[in-house]
Amino acid sequence: MAIQKKTGVGKSIATAASFLMQDEVVAIPTETVYGLAGNALSVKAVNAIYTAKKRPHSNPLIVHISGIEELTKYAKNIPPVALVLAKAFWPGSLTLILKKKKNVPDAVTAGTDTVALRIPNHPITQKLLQQLSFPLAAPSANPFNYVSPVTANHVMAQLNGKISYILDGGRCKAGVESTIIGFIKGKPVLLRHGAITKESIEAVLGYSIEEEVKEVFLKRPGMFKKHYSPHTKLIVAHDVMLASEHYSGKNIGYITFAEKVKGVVPSQQVQLSKSKKLEQAAHNIYDALINMDSKGFDIIIAEWLPDEGLGKAINERLRKASAK
Ligand code: TXA
Ligand code: MG
Repeated sequence: MAIQKKTGVGKSIATAASFLMQDEVVAIPTETVYGLAGNALSVKAVNAIYTAKKRPHSNPLIVHISGIEELTKYAKNIPPVALVLAKAFWPGSLTLILKKKKNVPDAVTAGTDTVALRIPNHPITQKLLQQLSFPLAAPSANPFNYVSPVTANHVMAQLNGKISYILDGGRCKAGVESTIIGFIKGKPVLLRHGAITKESIEAVLGYSIEEEVKEVFLKRPGMFKKHYSPHTKLIVAHDVMLASEHYSGKNIGYITFAEKVKGVVPSQQVQLSKSKKLEQAAHNIYDALINMDSKGFDIIIAEWLPDEGLGKAINERLRKASAK
């Protein structure tokens, strides 16, 4: 049986740093979602992350660095366009997959020759990184396959007893994970939609990018079909009322973009953004899923968002959360 830890929660960067220096696992706030952090250069700490999360070792972790000058410490053969993107979006919600240097342990990269890097844009975690002499490997702080946490309370509910400390940095602003870009023959390809829209990346580049997950990257670990799932069965539909007709007699919770579901009591439904702002919808999506999942419904029916901008990131998560 796994050893139960006493999980502390608080705002002490020093406490978080001291646990991390002892190869312990600590939840950290980022602008996207909470991460489950450990010393990226310590195999012991990295293994402790996989254990706490029950994550398969075949699924590599993102390494969080404190500044752009750290890029060349851990990555090599960096395509010039990767630097353009790093300069445009860091610190921020963009993860770059680059050829790794030898000092990055295979445990972090699941044995692949690439490493995922980003600089998080959260003042507390930036301060923490500056105090440490090593970068932080951190997947989202959810148990494998469950919904990603966007508050310290979410982390506590999911990982109490499994980790040493939760560094409370308030509610995550963006609310969905970083956008992941890989490179094929030096050309950027989009591997995961996320908090930075494809459109804004293309605006920086001046050309459009492929969503090439299949050819090279699907064979890689980590891009699972099912992910981010609540325990309650989740259905996604364009017309939630129509979808609900298949489930008469069931106790249904609804998640819609902006409009209220007529004839359904407020406690059984949540709107992601009454003013139809995709940014606000992204900020609220995981909280809505976790909240609806806690209410004991037979089924949750969620509405597809417009498939543009951040709507793509939200839809990608709804698609995976509802996959069988
Ligand atoms: O916003 C985020 O990205 C959050 C915060 C904590 O930074 N982190 C996050 O990590 O979402 P995680 O582990 O939940 O998702 C990272 C994804 C996984 O799908 C993993 O397979 C992929 O990144 N990944 C990591 N390293 C990779 C690599 N070397 N090659 C291809 N994919 C990689
Ligand atoms: Mg995750």
